[in-house]
Amino acid sequence: MEKIIVLGGKGGVGKSSISASTAVLLSDLLPYKNILLISFDMAHNLSDLFQIEIGNKLTQLTKNLWGIEPDADSYAKKYTKELIEKMKILMSQMPLVGMIPQIEKFIDTTFTADSIPLALKNAMFFQKILDAEDINTQEIQFDIIIADFPPTANMITLFEIPEDQVKVMLKYSLNFYNSIKGAIRNVSKVWRNIIKPFDNYEKRRELGKEIFNMIVELERRGERISDLIHDIGSLRLVTIAEKPSFEEIKRARDLTMRYIKLEGVHINMITPEPKKCDFCTKIRLQQLKYTLEIKKEFKKLKIWESEKLREEPIGLDGLRNLAFEVYGENISADEILYPKV
Ligand SMILES: Nc1ncnc2c1ncn2[C@@H]1O[C@H](COP(=O)(O)OP(=O)(O)O)[C@@H](O)[C@H]1O
Ligand SMILES: [Mg+2]
Repeated sequence: MEKIIVLGGKGGVGKSSISASTAVLLSDLLPYKNILLISFDMAHNLSDLFQIEIGNKLTQLTKNLWGIEPDADSYAKKYTKELIEKMKILMSQMPLVGMIPQIEKFIDTTFTADSIPLALKNAMFFQKILDAEDINTQEIQFDIIIADFPPTANMITLFEIPEDQVKVMLKYSLNFYNSIKGAIRNVSKVWRNIIKPFDNYEKRRELGKEIFNMIVELERRGERISDLIHDIGSLRLVTIAEKPSFEEIKRARDLTMRYIKLEGVHINMITPEPKKCDFCTKIRLQQLKYTLEIKKEFKKLKIWESEKLREEPIGLDGLRNLAFEVYGENISADEILYPKV
């Protein structure tokens, strides 16, 4: 993998549209590279942009571009199912716990994928996608990934969680363990002594190790992914030339600094030069004032300016139009991938 481009910013400023346009343009410019466009917004809209149903599966959009709107929930379910199966066996092997009536049902209802925070699920999925090993199993080796991220608060959790997910998982397991402990306390002492000779300690130890290894593997992957994002990740913040979204990208810059390199800012939907519209002229002037402020604030970064198009940029051709508006007609792939000021 060469590059992971991440687009962030406030809702409604054009993150998804610019992500999709960038992906289409790169796929045109680099016919021999495989490109993946992935949406992390909860309200996925890549399907609307490409006017083709994408959903939770790799969907081919051009010869060398694929898209996916992951269902993080279903991935987390698969992962926790494996963990839960092991937990169940372990619990049923424990001298007292195994005797609690309906222990399996209890485990099923307390230890579920639904109780994992959505941010963690998304992050687990993000890691799965970025993890070269997993990508190989899908038999497409992606060279460039373009990630359409949710607005700032949720964006941060995607970066933080590779570091924190093991803590979250452990906390979650510990809560579960505590609820079991309550149940054990109710079993009498007499019972404990009767059961002791039948305790299969070795088997429990093995199972314990397997569960531990699953968690260690999760942590390793988290570290691998954090390094990858740090090394080849490139954040581009999208804003319109107005105060609230400008404030948001300043905050996003400060909060993401320790995880990913910020390489550019898109100022999108600038009102075009109007012909017969005094009100539009006023808006445009106001936006140009903000554009100057944004450029001053981010003066060390590449700034891309794009006007509001007359037609909604959808479908491959619409997205190509937006790409030309954003990057200009004669841009090279390198200028997009490795922007210089
Ligand atoms: N430069 C542009 N010109 C015209 N319409 C645009 C432009 N950029 C985005 N849009 C439109 O603005 C709306 C919001 O864009 P979207 O990409 O969904 O934003 P976000 O992903 O940040 O929420 C969409 O209807 C999109 O088609
Ligand atoms: Mg969006």
